[in-house]
Amino acid sequence: MSSATDTALVALMNALSECPAPTWWFAGEQEFAPPVASGEVNVFTNRCDTAALFSDRGYPVILGDFELPSGDGQNAEWERPQSICYRVSKEKALVHYLINQAAKALPEGGELLLAGFKGDGLKTYADKAAKLLGGQKQIEKCAGNAYLARISKGELSDQWLPDQDYTRLQMIHEEPVLLSKPGIFGWQKCDRGSALLIEQLPGVLASCQRAPHRLLDLGCGYGYLTVMAHRHLPGSEWLLTDNNATALIAAQANCERHGIAAETLLADCGSGAQGPFDMVLCNPPFHQGFAVEGSLTDQFLAAASQVLARGGQALFVVNEFIPLERKARQAFASSELLIRCDGFCVYRLIAR
Ligand SMILES: C[S@@+](CC[C@H](N)C(=O)[O-])C[C@H]1O[C@@H](n2cnc3c(N)ncnc32)[C@H](O)[C@@H]1O
Repeated sequence: MSSATDTALVALMNALSECPAPTWWFAGEQEFAPPVASGEVNVFTNRCDTAALFSDRGYPVILGDFELPSGDGQNAEWERPQSICYRVSKEKALVHYLINQAAKALPEGGELLLAGFKGDGLKTYADKAAKLLGGQKQIEKCAGNAYLARISKGELSDQWLPDQDYTRLQMIHEEPVLLSKPGIFGWQKCDRGSALLIEQLPGVLASCQRAPHRLLDLGCGYGYLTVMAHRHLPGSEWLLTDNNATALIAAQANCERHGIAAETLLADCGSGAQGPFDMVLCNPPFHQGFAVEGSLTDQFLAAASQVLARGGQALFVVNEFIPLERKARQAFASSELLIRCDGFCVYRLIAR
């Protein structure tokens, strides 16, 4: 386990052995491996790295955008769960969506276990879930200030929690059209750092002897960098990669919408991306799980350096206090700070 262990997740895992089977486990970001599977626990997640942690320990995993069996008995291979465990996510729409799904899937007398901290809004979520499920609620405080709520299902209310139309792709920007949906990092906005990176692109391209043709969007989210950069690079070919299956649904839709020649790859830190690429564009994740983590930046830098063609370029945007030049020194031939603005720095890195 990492030093910043998520004690809410630990509390939930400790409770797992007492949960009536079969159990469904809704998993988001996961910082450490679960105990070896015992009993009937089916995992649903939209993160491929989380999926790998569970399947390595013997759990059956459904990796996708939390497309859950309907709970109407139509899906013979999926027995109705008697309990559902969920360490609440950071995004409210996703939490509401998954509580709604749990309410539909559980039978009367079934149990929903929610874990999280006060700051995650755990108590409020537990109250809302109890109202929806129409059953009893118990909350206990666990080690490390985590809370664990157990909510039983009684008579279901018809007041579903608002999930911002979780399953639907939505237009979040008109010119150019950008599609996105809940479940994706910053799904409703254009990230300021990413916009700053795109603003540097005309200058970078003007200094290139040959326009880059094959590009990698590393940690693509809904595909903002690709859509915006493609306007400067008509005819370019793209690989968009992210560890979040939900993000790739939107990324693919955006590429289709704009006629971009693109493939998508669901991967942890771009692993398996087949180079060489002429250019990599990246706004690396700043958070890992529930802790701020710098090592992901190192992993993204390493991935970029491995897939770039000789002399190829990577454009990275990071929070200004991340020492990117120092981190990039080993793997790249040179680095240049293109701009420092609004708390972000954009760097141009040249591959060896
Ligand atoms: C700061 S966002 C940038 C998103 C998008 N490129 C943009 O500019 O709006 C970082 C992205 O990295 C993805 N990510 C986080 N951890 C990852 C990992 N281990 N492997 C691959 N992608 C990851 C997140 O899902 C998120 O989409």
